[in-house]
Amino acid sequence: MKLGILISGRGSNMLAIAEAIENGTIPNAEIAVVISDKPSAQGLIKAQEKGLETLAIPRNGRTREEHDAEIVSELKKRGVELVCLAGYMRLLSKDFIRGFPNKIINIHPSLLPSFKGLDAQKQAFEYGVYFTGCTVHFVDEELDHGAIIAQKVVEVKDEDTAETLSHRILEQEHQLYIEAIAKIVKGNYEFIGRKVRF
Ligand code: GAR
Repeated sequence: MKLGILISGRGSNMLAIAEAIENGTIPNAEIAVVISDKPSAQGLIKAQEKGLETLAIPRNGRTREEHDAEIVSELKKRGVELVCLAGYMRLLSKDFIRGFPNKIINIHPSLLPSFKGLDAQKQAFEYGVYFTGCTVHFVDEELDHGAIIAQKVVEVKDEDTAETLSHRILEQEHQLYIEAIAKIVKGNYEFIGRKVRF
């Protein structure tokens, strides 16, 4: 299965996916392209070092729809079948989502539906929860809302800061995203309402 990965920054989840494909943890998959809306994203350099094709497609004052249309066209040109958002910090337009029905997935650094949106780790830390974590989910037309594929719990420790907590969540994200992608690529799942049954 051909994957397209969308990033905006550091790209550690993208790198974890690339390495999992290399070492066979995600079988039958290849990364067709890594696209960033931010030309300066560190993740683009990391992807190039892995020998992956990269594209920077900044929005450049266009509408969301125009920007997304260019991204969709580049993904389709390469035969991408599964779009993985990995720290991609933009909402997708309806046309983008409809162009890849149930074929766009995202990783979010909280136990959804808690702490949607930006800085989810900091939101959880400041709220004072004892447990938070990360979620891989299908992307639908609402923010951080689509059917949940997998979740992992991370305990908040007394000595944590928002930064140490984010770091431990990120370690779990890498594991969780790899496991989830391997299952989606395998394809043995069905939707029962909002639930994904593997
Ligand atoms: C990750 O923590 C990811 O869960 C988060 O951005 C970070 C990207 O890190 N995504 C979101 O908050 C999306 N709402 P990375 O670039 O090193 O993978």
